[in-house]
Amino acid sequence: MSWGVFDSGVGGLTVFKALRESLPETPLVYLGDTARVPYGVRSVETVREYAREAAVFMSTAGVEGVIIACNTASAVALDAFRDVFRGSVLGVVEPGVSEALAATRRGRIGIIGTPATVRSDAYGSRIRALRPDATVVSSACPLFVPLAEEGWTRGEVPTLVARRYLASLKEAGVDTVVLACTHYPLLREVIAEEMGPAVRLVDSASAVSREAVRRQQSAQWQRSEPHNGARDRFCVTDAGGAFASVAARFLGAPIPSLETVHLPHSGA
Ligand code: DGL
Repeated sequence: MSWGVFDSGVGGLTVFKALRESLPETPLVYLGDTARVPYGVRSVETVREYAREAAVFMSTAGVEGVIIACNTASAVALDAFRDVFRGSVLGVVEPGVSEALAATRRGRIGIIGTPATVRSDAYGSRIRALRPDATVVSSACPLFVPLAEEGWTRGEVPTLVARRYLASLKEAGVDTVVLACTHYPLLREVIAEEMGPAVRLVDSASAVSREAVRRQQSAQWQRSEPHNGARDRFCVTDAGGAFASVAARFLGAPIPSLETVHLPHSGA
């Protein structure tokens, strides 16, 4: 049994790391569409086509399940991915919503994500379906992605950006904030300082990896050969960026190798 993790870039490594810790013997294939990041400012149709292409890649990579770590793709293209990829497909919206509903004390929940995720209302509609009395306030925070990519995760600049983006959530008195974007956990400290100690921050990386473990056990997938650290694949669509160094820093060890792959057209 092996899992794929798909993101638009480096951000999905948060999910990769959680999955690696939960399933130490399972080979993983990471795909970051670094040639086309960011997805969060693109149209729904474009993101859906990118997701279909990633699904073709994952089908040929031979994984049995895929976690779509990218919130934007999870919010607007989960079904498009499932149309192409026949195995288990997990998005991050459902686990993020479950965590938020477990964390909130007064049902006042803030969602921060890319413009595409916020426009889709994927989180808000799911939260209201499960808890109709909940108040959901959303804010798109597009500058958080380049700040995280640049490593500007502390100090004056991200603090001022966070203050502006989070003002509406503070005014609304939310008690929980969902970090509905792969990159935002990297800015967690700044977001936490701005929102104050009483507000809980939720991210779905650990929740989605717990769900993957549950699926693996309930499906009784065959155990793969023991993971020896060299079996993971890290694939990107453009290796010109800082993926390898960010990954090494983030995962605490150099990645064995970085493959540049071409995503096949989905034909859809
Ligand atoms: N991976 C995207 C997400 O979680 C953030 C970066 C992007 O816009 O592609 O929504």
